[in-house]
Amino acid sequence: MTATSAAEASSGGCALSSADKSFLLRRLHSLTGIVPLGGFLLFHFFENASARRGPEAFNETVEKIASMPYLMVAEWALLLLPLIFHSVYGIYITRASRPVVAQYTHCRNIAYILQRVSGIVAFFYIAYHVVSTRFWALFVAGREITFQDMATKLSVPWVFALYIVGVLSVVYHFSNGLWSFSITWGLVRSDVGQKRLACVSMAICAVLSVVGIDILSAFVFKQSILSAFGI
Ligand code: HEM
Repeated sequence: MTATSAAEASSGGCALSSADKSFLLRRLHSLTGIVPLGGFLLFHFFENASARRGPEAFNETVEKIASMPYLMVAEWALLLLPLIFHSVYGIYITRASRPVVAQYTHCRNIAYILQRVSGIVAFFYIAYHVVSTRFWALFVAGREITFQDMATKLSVPWVFALYIVGVLSVVYHFSNGLWSFSITWGLVRSDVGQKRLACVSMAICAVLSVVGIDILSAFVFKQSILSAFGI
């Protein structure tokens, strides 16, 4: 009996080759990008959009979410663990990747590089954001974060700039990720379909960027930029 077949026999014939493991890890990485991370991103925008209705509406939303049952378990299982896995494997992919200039169009190569750069920026931004809001509330302040806390934080110019860069990076990463996800899973195969999808994903990127900046502006100015125009 060879060493490999002995290993397979001892594991009930279920041993995965390293190519199979890498395939499964890639698929899991891809899936965690959409569910739960992408889903949470949209939910997070939706809940924070309450800041457009003023401090009371925002604080009420935060209190409602904080009083949800099993919140800590949900935060770890649905958010932090998938985020840690997606980030660590994402950094591994980024370190191992090479742009394939000859094989793809100029635009797709730029998107490929931007997907990796935005992932790294998102990593540092999300780490800062989670520590300075959620962990701060739990372990330092001993109370939930308020509209005023966020307004004070964002009144510092470099923090505001960091949030703009961070939000735009996460939004680009997610939107372009919708495109690459559809290809990874074979949902869109034709050239025309992939080109159309690239346009749709950039339209989603544009809309989410405007919404993200509008939400940030609600904390800094008395009124969000869009609501000043009646939107
Ligand atoms: C809110 C946080 C995040 C969301 C919503 C998200 C979402 C996604 C999505 C949807 C994809 C496309 C999957 C596919 O092509 O099949 C993706 C890919 C990727 N993500 Fe993230 N991601 C997040 C954070 C991160 C972080 C922090 C990193 C760290 C570097 C990262 C690194 C990557 C890389 C390198 C890819 C490309 C994978 C490939 O082309 O094979 N992501 N992400």
